[in-house]
Amino acid sequence: MRLDALLDLLPLRPLETAALPPTMQALLRAYVPQAITGRIAGGQTDWIAEQRRVTVLFINLPDLRADLPIERAQQLMQAIQSSLYRYEGSISRLGTDAKGPTMMAAFGLPPLAHEDDATRGAAAALLISERLAEIGFTTAIGVTSGLAFCGSVGSATRRREYSMMGPTVNLAARLMQAAAQLARDDGPQVFCDAATRQAANGNLRFRDHAPLYLKGFASSTVVFQPLQQQGDAPPTASENAELPLLGRERERSFLLRELAKLTDHGSGAVVLIEGEAGIGKSRLLADLVARADRPGLHIVSGSGSPVERATPYFAWSAIAAQLRDGSARPAEGRQPLLRALQTAAAQEPLLVIFEDAQWLDSASWSLILAASQLIQPLLFCIALRPLADPSNDFQALRYAPGTRYVRLEGLTIDAIAELMRLSLGVRTIPTSLVDTIVLQAQGNPLFSSELVAAMRDSGILRISGDSAYLVGDDTPKPGVRASKTICSCPIHYAA
Ligand SMILES: Nc1ncnc2c1ncn2[C@@H]1O[C@H](COP(=O)(O)OP(=O)(O)OP(=O)(O)O)[C@@H](O)[C@H]1O
Ligand SMILES: [Mg+2]
Repeated sequence: MRLDALLDLLPLRPLETAALPPTMQALLRAYVPQAITGRIAGGQTDWIAEQRRVTVLFINLPDLRADLPIERAQQLMQAIQSSLYRYEGSISRLGTDAKGPTMMAAFGLPPLAHEDDATRGAAAALLISERLAEIGFTTAIGVTSGLAFCGSVGSATRRREYSMMGPTVNLAARLMQAAAQLARDDGPQVFCDAATRQAANGNLRFRDHAPLYLKGFASSTVVFQPLQQQGDAPPTASENAELPLLGRERERSFLLRELAKLTDHGSGAVVLIEGEAGIGKSRLLADLVARADRPGLHIVSGSGSPVERATPYFAWSAIAAQLRDGSARPAEGRQPLLRALQTAAAQEPLLVIFEDAQWLDSASWSLILAASQLIQPLLFCIALRPLADPSNDFQALRYAPGTRYVRLEGLTIDAIAELMRLSLGVRTIPTSLVDTIVLQAQGNPLFSSELVAAMRDSGILRISGDSAYLVGDDTPKPGVRASKTICSCPIHYAA
């Protein structure tokens, strides 16, 4: 019997879902990102489709070909996975298309969002290219930051995936392609967009790359390349501070007095400057460094890192490298660090700055206390956010007799008004605007600036000549989201 033609269409039947035996389920689960399994385990299968602020990595993997031995492919994947997970990023997809074998990864996907995701993304990209080069693979990575549509795509009951879409994602892919062209001759490359550089600039150093014309983008795109940390000090807020320091007269003169005691009388102290995120700790320290930068005083600085909070003496290692003129040594212990401080302080008074000390490990706190008791002339100025769970070593330092404590509160109304005028480049602003910002941001300069920027971006706030004014009524509309750092908290204004 032979089939010549079909007289009628066969009725369509939905495919049956294969019943998965439990052992197979457990095996397949290993292929689903942790962020997704966590939500499924919590019974949350209705995915929130949302615009999220994310940092996206497109990783080009030209060596991941079909003929690559499986052991080498495993090595490559492990190097990428461990680098991403170190910074708490997620792998989104591995696929191949016209761009070649490519992995998409992201920072800021639920449940692992951090305020410093742009820094984490750029640092992870550097680590991936370094680790892959060590094991003989080449790579090129595009890193972008911004809003992206994040949500599930596909059928509600069958195959679906959690995906990211939008211009931020497209730009990362284009940057990766541009980086891949350069990588063919010059080795591994990481290209970042302006938003990533801007968000990570206080923590990483970047080199400008010539602007590029990328497919799908009407105008040229500015491109930056993150640089490996060389054990030198991270850039301080002073390098980023465009506006003058406003207010803070009391804290400023207190710090200058401590500095004078160090330089004139050789007597040091430990000054703890505590305050919430964005309140102005780094800005105050930058002002101190600018004023203290003179011959006869040696200034060194280090910074805690959320990623390295369990690494003993992490912030101290940058300080030790500066004390030894840039020569970093791996994993130094307490005694060598004390000796390095002793040698430096014997030559000239020493000012040691710690930034982001909320992420110091307890051995580092203990070393600060020991150094302050053993070594002179030595002044520590330490900026930290309030600690949720202070260690005993921190408490010992906090209540030691030589410790001075400065609590930074919000700026005054006058200072916030001036901050707004300067950041908008105007001479007058409505009082109602100042009142609203002070009410919402409680004098926090970072949140104030971000609120003003958000209101400007959304058209509520306009500028005419040297005045700023509010459009429509004089109260901001609900639903405005601040642009960068505080994007994850929706801001609702009083109606
Ligand atoms: N007194 C001030 N005058 C002008 N600008 C300020 C002042 N204080 C802070 N700023 C600005 O506000 C922003 C946040 O300040 P800063 O980075 O110093 O906060 P921080 O307390 O160090 O925050 P974090 O805990 O996140 O490190 C910066 O852009 C800074 O320049
Ligand atoms: Mg700071």
